[in-house]
Amino acid sequence: MKTARISSQKSEDSDSSQAANISAGRTTGALQSLGDRAPNADVRLDAVSVTFMRSNGDRVTAIENVDLTVKTGELLCVIGRSGEGKTTLLNVVAGLVEPSEGRVLVGEREIHGTGADRGVIFQGDAVYPWMRVADNVGFGLRVKGVRRPERERVVDEYLELVGLSHVAKSWPRELSGGMRSRVAVASVFANDPEVLLADEPFGALDYVTRRRLQGVMLDLWQRTGKTILFVTHDVEEALLLATRIIVVGGGHVLDDRPVNLARPRDEEVLASSEAVETRRRLLSYLGLEPGAGSAVGQTNE
Ligand SMILES: Nc1ncnc2c1ncn2[C@@H]1O[C@H](COP(=O)(O)OP(=O)(O)O)[C@@H](O)[C@H]1O
Ligand SMILES: [Mg+2]
Repeated sequence: MKTARISSQKSEDSDSSQAANISAGRTTGALQSLGDRAPNADVRLDAVSVTFMRSNGDRVTAIENVDLTVKTGELLCVIGRSGEGKTTLLNVVAGLVEPSEGRVLVGEREIHGTGADRGVIFQGDAVYPWMRVADNVGFGLRVKGVRRPERERVVDEYLELVGLSHVAKSWPRELSGGMRSRVAVASVFANDPEVLLADEPFGALDYVTRRRLQGVMLDLWQRTGKTILFVTHDVEEALLLATRIIVVGGGHVLDDRPVNLARPRDEEVLASSEAVETRRRLLSYLGLEPGAGSAVGQTNE
């Protein structure tokens, strides 16, 4: 068995002329098609295992023989305890980690390495401090060779959607952490990936800011119909966002169920018996006592 190789920023889009051609067309399409569904952005993990070699020589199997299909337009939340393989699962889809066994497909295509078809939002505010807000949001488009007028149109649109038009010309250091997170979210959507991957992106934010960002994320997902894999350790966040929730434990998918709660998921919906039951089940997977659920969920309020 191979041990996992951390991809050294190898990009499938390193052929920039090809990337520019593809993206110039696709980006124009993206704005026109806000609200349309992408043709096939299914993500499929086919018997994927990832084994790491620790520096002391120990082997760690972070995920083992995982089969998973995320359908186009799904907002899949991945939940689980720390160290159970959530980030690894996301990283193999991002192309940052190569599977030791099995393969990962986006649409019909097996992926190797990162690519502009998959946008990633990590925890914290991954913005470029040396670029103004609008330049951050437009950076991916610039790399792809999208011309300025088109770029500005896309950037303006996404800045408005995340409520940051008024700080377009500001530097990231002039913004709050929550605003910088909005910049990161706008940047990844503006780049029009087929699949969006988020690894506990709002974990470091205060409760109110996190709730706002969750709203922004939902709004953009509903407008664009992107396929989203969203890793979180927060049961309430998963209940609020997901069309489906999987629980990862010991490198396996322990539970996989749709979330059929009505939207908007207001207090009433989140207090329904289905929500209560789902919350109870998820908390018990996390090793928390059933019944401690509501108290845990409200600690930040
Ligand atoms: N680059 C790496 N090298 C060695 N072990 C790793 C590496 N990345 C993750 N692991 C191990 O894989 C397991 C799963 O980690 P991870 O996917 O980060 O879990 P989670 O995101 O659920 O907290 C852990 O035991 C972790 O120590
Ligand atoms: Mg993690």
